[in-house]
Amino acid sequence: MVVYQILGGRRLCGTVTVQGSKNAVLPMIAAAVLTKEEVVLEGCPKISDVEDMAEIVRSLGGTVWWERNALHMNCEKIEKSRVEGALSKRLRASLLFLGSLLARTGEAYFAGAGGCRIGKRPTDLHQRAMELLGAEVFEEDGTIRAKADHPKGAVLCFPKKSVGATENAVLFAVGAEGATRLEHCAREPEVVHLCRFLKAMGAEITGEGTEQITVYGRQGKRLLSGCRYRVPGDRIAAGTYLLMGAATRGHLTLSGAPLDEMGAVLSLYQKIGGQYTRKSGTLVADSKNVQHAVPYVETEKYPGFPTDLQSLYLAAAMTLEGKSCICENVFEDRLRTAEELQKMGGTLQICGKWLTAEKSRLHGAEVVSQDLRGGAALVSAALAAEGFSTIRQTELVERGYERHPETLRDIGAKIPVE
Ligand code: UD1
Repeated sequence: MVVYQILGGRRLCGTVTVQGSKNAVLPMIAAAVLTKEEVVLEGCPKISDVEDMAEIVRSLGGTVWWERNALHMNCEKIEKSRVEGALSKRLRASLLFLGSLLARTGEAYFAGAGGCRIGKRPTDLHQRAMELLGAEVFEEDGTIRAKADHPKGAVLCFPKKSVGATENAVLFAVGAEGATRLEHCAREPEVVHLCRFLKAMGAEITGEGTEQITVYGRQGKRLLSGCRYRVPGDRIAAGTYLLMGAATRGHLTLSGAPLDEMGAVLSLYQKIGGQYTRKSGTLVADSKNVQHAVPYVETEKYPGFPTDLQSLYLAAAMTLEGKSCICENVFEDRLRTAEELQKMGGTLQICGKWLTAEKSRLHGAEVVSQDLRGGAALVSAALAAEGFSTIRQTELVERGYERHPETLRDIGAKIPVE
């Protein structure tokens, strides 16, 4: 178990180079099995979720190696189409091999997804998409077996917007015969990045970033070409450091932040009193005047306020004057971090999917990370609190944040090395 000890009460000041996007790169790793040629992902974050996806590629017969910050993959030989449970249950994004393996080999066996425990997280939309594109799908207790001898393009309307199901459908549709029109798609930037990456591999796709994406399949020629691609900056990691800066009234320069994808969090930052300037991919954020809570914040699909930053705002909200009511609309069980924050003196009320946070006198405490972003929120509260905090299970945090304690130390956090 990874444990962070944090001495709070210090402003975070300095420069953070924003890491490559976790949620953009994980589908790209799943997409690497769509080609026999080498794929290079430059600026790939060195985080455990990436290592776990890479391990799955190796288990299927591919080779994966690092050259400095570039992840290289060669899937010339894909010998298996089984993703074993010991690997698949480490993270949710393993589910994306369902679409790419079906496209590459015509079959896929998937022993169940893992990932953060933030709600039920069913896979019905993924399975339905595979079926509509011509796969036979059998599911039992989370294990999915799918077979597709002649996948064919189709028109598919998602009953609910899902980032992962949109990505999975695109991955499979690339190997199907003819055009596939996907309607009511997720518009998240990570979907756009996956489509751009696939286009760099030779796929024909239009409409990414809108609710209607069209994929022109390979007409029987299933394989794409290799490519070299730069992973975009991580909007959630950038938002995390921005809100940690707010919680500690710091002054941060975030270089490589994908500012065009951060509208909702930047607008919230301004409302609480944060001031920022932006210069070609660099955000300079001054939190000295951060003071007032935003009365109502609700998480929504993109371009709304992201669910992944809900707990980070919650941590900051406890340092602000006034009350914040936060409504979690995307995942039904993403409020457990609030109970840990209460141990640090947080004045929080939880009622269904609503949370109310008030200005609190935060003190150090022993707390346990409940999920990746929730763990980062505990770190943020510990940075803002008086005294020492011990945060357990921070391996969950390291699933998504590269060199997290080191990055925080570089901007002034007191996190003694064990
Ligand atoms: C992705 C992100 C995650 C982010 C989330 C929402 C990755 C690796 N993860 O997760 O960080 O918080 O988008 O922006 O990119 N749903 C169903 N049936 C399904 C699939 C989803 O009902 O088959 C529901 C989910 O339970 C949830 C909602 O749809 O309530 C949205 O989930 P989805 O967009 O699929 O999230 P993920 O792709 O899992």
